[in-house]
Amino acid sequence: MTNLKKCYNIADLRKKARAKLPAPIFDYIDGGADDEWTLRRNTTAFEDYQLMPRQLCDINHTDMSSTYLGCELKLPFFLAPTGMSRLFHHEKELAACRAAATHGTIYSLSTLATTSLEEIAALTKAPKMFQVYILRDRELTREFVARCRESDYQALCLTVDTALAGNRERDLRNGMTMPPEVNLSSFFSYCSSVNWLFHLLLEPEFKLANVAHRVDALGKGSMGLIDYVNSQFDRTVTWNDVEWLIQQWKGPFVIKGLLSISDVERARDIGASAVMLSNHGGRQLDGTPAPVDCIAPIRDAVGPDIELIVDGGIRRGTHIVKALALGADACSIGRPYLYGLAAGGEQGVDRSLEILASELERSMALLGCSSIQELGREHLRHIQELQAQT
Ligand code: GLV
Repeated sequence: MTNLKKCYNIADLRKKARAKLPAPIFDYIDGGADDEWTLRRNTTAFEDYQLMPRQLCDINHTDMSSTYLGCELKLPFFLAPTGMSRLFHHEKELAACRAAATHGTIYSLSTLATTSLEEIAALTKAPKMFQVYILRDRELTREFVARCRESDYQALCLTVDTALAGNRERDLRNGMTMPPEVNLSSFFSYCSSVNWLFHLLLEPEFKLANVAHRVDALGKGSMGLIDYVNSQFDRTVTWNDVEWLIQQWKGPFVIKGLLSISDVERARDIGASAVMLSNHGGRQLDGTPAPVDCIAPIRDAVGPDIELIVDGGIRRGTHIVKALALGADACSIGRPYLYGLAAGGEQGVDRSLEILASELERSMALLGCSSIQELGREHLRHIQELQAQT
């Protein structure tokens, strides 16, 4: 049994995940597009904001609870939608969903998950969100809306930065393409990940559980599941389609993948309740700015009428503090919990949330804040501001 308590931070969980997974699978989680500049910048950008503590505040009690996406939650961060969890651990999405419920936060299920949205709904009444794309197969998008309503999902999240796949060169080198190609070095790497392989042999089924039924309906057996998914990204999607989906859903609606002021203004004007400032974890267009750098200008331009969720590069509680102080309502994490999942299933996801929650609580207290609502720009200095003063 992995001693997860000896993982003191997300970087430790990442190391453990690397040791447990075949290299191509680890790289699939860990990698980004092109030169991975955006991937790195997403995290290093947090260093440009320095924390300015206020002392002698009563911080006997630190309240991390927060309300966003229509839910009262115990934490101001939640689990982002990520695809194909079965690749990383046999407990797959069920593990992540359970751990999110334990910590009183939202689990987001991806369209490309290996567990159906109904199975997740049966597992817990805790708040959950389903992530959709507007696919060429509009019938499937329509069907998701009905299924999510039927299964009491609190929110719907539309990803808009994936009209085509990013250029992920680690995956190309490793043969982690769809369909996968196993080469000599990846073959040895798969064989040496004994525990992972054992579970693969024990439970070989790998199913994109939310879309599989459409393959037979559309392809009449002639089309593979992966061919179906690859054929579904739609480059013709526009704001009109998003408006259509908002009207279909009628509940809390998040647009994931915006970075510019004008796009967020448009999202607000057509009735989205929240946006995720995100560059897809650096996996799509390399060269885009870090989401943390987009918060303040966007918040100043759009005002309080739309929730801003920051997604990308978060590895520490202090990163969450900085995002909230800049004007975000919440953060979402992808890789940190996937490293935990790969390191130890549900217990690993639980550990990743425990680490971030305790780091967040400690840094709020050291900053002199006893609640999320007290965090503000007075708690930050941008590095350029400090340089100008000296
Ligand atoms: C899917 O959304 C991915 O980034 O792999």
